[in-house]
This record gives sequence, C-alpha cells and structure tokens, in this order.
Amino acid sequence: MTDLILQNCRLATMDPDRPGAYGAVEDAALVIRDGKIAWAGPAADMVHHAQTPPATMSDLGGRLVTPALVDCHTHSVFGGDRTGEFEQRLNGVSYEEIAKAGGGIRSTVKATRAASLEELTQGAVRRLKTLRKGGVATVEIKSGYGLDVETEIRMLRAATAAAETCGMRVRRTHLGLHALPPEYADRRADYVRLICEEALPAAHAEGLVDAVDAFCETIGFTPEETRQVFEKAKELGLPIRLHAEQLSDQGGARLAAEFGALSADHLEFLDDSGIAAMAASGAVAVLLPGAFYFIRETKRPPVQALRDAGVPIAIATDLNPGSSPLLSPTLTLNMACTLFALTPEEALAGMTREAARAMGVGAETGMIREGYAADLAVWDVARPAEIAYWIGLPGPERLFIAGREVAQ
Ligand code: NIG
Ligand code: FE
Repeated sequence: MTDLILQNCRLATMDPDRPGAYGAVEDAALVIRDGKIAWAGPAADMVHHAQTPPATMSDLGGRLVTPALVDCHTHSVFGGDRTGEFEQRLNGVSYEEIAKAGGGIRSTVKATRAASLEELTQGAVRRLKTLRKGGVATVEIKSGYGLDVETEIRMLRAATAAAETCGMRVRRTHLGLHALPPEYADRRADYVRLICEEALPAAHAEGLVDAVDAFCETIGFTPEETRQVFEKAKELGLPIRLHAEQLSDQGGARLAAEFGALSADHLEFLDDSGIAAMAASGAVAVLLPGAFYFIRETKRPPVQALRDAGVPIAIATDLNPGSSPLLSPTLTLNMACTLFALTPEEALAGMTREAARAMGVGAETGMIREGYAADLAVWDVARPAEIAYWIGLPGPERLFIAGREVAQ
C-alpha cells in the first residue's frame, strides 16, 4: 500500500510525552503507512523516503486532527427501547423503583431474547454508525440483556458482526451479572453459577469475550457474587471491568482494584478508600455523564479527588436503552465538562487515550504517535476545546480508521 501523507494540518496528539496542552503540534504533517502512523510532527521536520508508487498527498487546509474517539463503555446491542419508562420516570417513578418492579434492565431482556441475531445486529449497526459519525472508531460493547447462555452469545455475535459491518474496532465484554432474570427470582446462587460455569466459558470458547463486567449494586449483584465471576474471569485469563458505585457505595471499586481491573465505571458514590485502591492498582475511572444526566442523579463522581490521587479518568456514552440513550460522543464530551467539571482537555483525553487504556487497547489507539493505528478525526474547528464546547456538534468532517477514510 502506498503511503498517505496528511499535510497542512494542526494536531492534538493527546500524547503526554509531547509538551503542552493536548500534545499539540502546529503546522503539522502526518505519514500513514499500512494502516498505522509512520510519522507525525511539524511539517518542516517531516522525514519521508520516496516510494514507488509515490505517496498520496492530502491537504487538510489547516484543519485540526485528533485521535479518532474511543467509546469505552456501551450497551449498543439490545432489543426494543424503554420510552415508556422514560415517561414513567418523568411522572415521578425512580430508576430503581422501576427496576424493583420488574422493569428496567429486565424489560430490555425480554425484548432482546425475542430478537434474532439479524435484528440485534441491524439495531447495533444503526447505533454504531451514529457513534462513528460522531467520530468514534473504537467501541466497547457489552452483553447483559440476554441473561441466559444462548442470548448472551447471540448478543456478542451481534456486537462482532455490527462492528465489522461498520469497519470499527471493537472489544466485547461479557456482562452476565447485569440483572437477575425472572426465572431465577428465588435462585440467585444458581444464576451466578450459570454465568460462571456455563455462560461465560461458552462465550469465551467461541472467542467472543475480550473482558468481563458485572453490575455490583443493590439492584444488581453483591460484592460476593461479583467476586465469583471475577475469579472465573481470572481463571480464563480475561481482563475485568466493573459497574461500581453508580447508585450506592458497595465497595465495588475496591473489589475491582483487588483483581487488577482495567476500569471501574460510573463511580458517583465512590469513597476515599475506593479512590485509594484504584490509584494503587492503576484502574481507570470511567465516568458516564449520560447516565448521570438521564436518570437525573444529583451526586457527582469525586472528580477532584480522583485527579488528586492520580487516577486516570475516561468518559463514555454508556449508550443503552434505560439509563443513557446517548448517541452523541461530542455531547458526551460537553456533558463531562458541564456536569462533572472536567476540562475540555481532560474530556478529550478521556474519550481517546484514557478510554483506550480502559479497554486494554492503549498501546494501539487513542493517541497520535508513531506505531499507533491511523485512527484519526479531522475537525473543522479553530481550537481543540471547541470539540467539547459546542452543544450539538455533529462530529468530525472526516474520519480515518486504520488509515482508511470512512465515508460518513
Ligand atoms: O450502565 N447500570 C447498569 N447498566 C446500565 C444500564 C442498563 C439499563 O438500564 O438498561 C448502565 O447504566
Ligand atoms: Fe453500563
């Protein structure tokens, strides 16, 4: 393949090894070879060896290039929607009350079990294309609306197929411990056993699992139950993520840290001991402003304490039908700033470099750096902060995934 040279641009590399805000480079150029960044820096310093056939040149007219966005926490595969519950909540019923009455995640489980692989894939393709339009090249997708061996596998197959159709990088996360399905209402221990002994190993045997997650919460699973699935993940050599401290403090983040988790996610109710454990283990704090906004949470995650402790912060859409039907990555950046007081630079790092780290792909994508994937977004903005500033910025003008331009 011949090289592609992007010229006449500005870079927000998000590479912490480069000095200055956003790891910025003015008057820059970029060389893409075999889907990767072969060189990036000031145009005046460009090193490029002549090739046959000669490199293709593209003049970006002074546009800003950032790493393509990374959405590290989504539930993009599901059947149905939860519009009715949205109305219920606006009539005063809380997210937890709906869940306790058998709705919430369980109503999506019903619709997901009734959907074919084809239907699940098509729904996910629609949503992934919207995320891609917003600048996302890499996405994490969880199971967790099947809650039986077969449907969890069908969801992960749909995730694989949908990402392939969209030409996006994907990491698939098994979330068997998301809710207790109705048929196990009085048999919690049996359900946990089903996930640990059958569902997770079966999905893993098909090569469908890149990580394991659980919902550690009063309306989800206890730390002891969560620990069981973590032990199984460890045995299978799979990395761990955790929905922790979203609605109450269960000590989930401490447990995740104990198992060397890639991330703990949500974290509105995280306490100091959880922060200290995450800092010591290197887990990423994945903040989800869409869920905070949509369920009208009032307690904010402890952003300043996370910063002070040096815990890396990522942000994500948490795209799902119940708590965060959020299809816009740029709005997610804005929400992270307005609701959680992240700086625009922290927000952009949170949806590039740190999100990639939370997914375990931080050595491949999420920065503009030599050897990294040429996953790039080209924005028509004067300053990088604008990407988080506009409310309703549709996305970048152009998007490259592994060096290939995606027709948006
Ligand atoms: O990340 N918290 C648990 N899981 C999802 C919500 C799923 C749903 O309500 O359907 C979340 O918020
Ligand atoms: Fe989630």
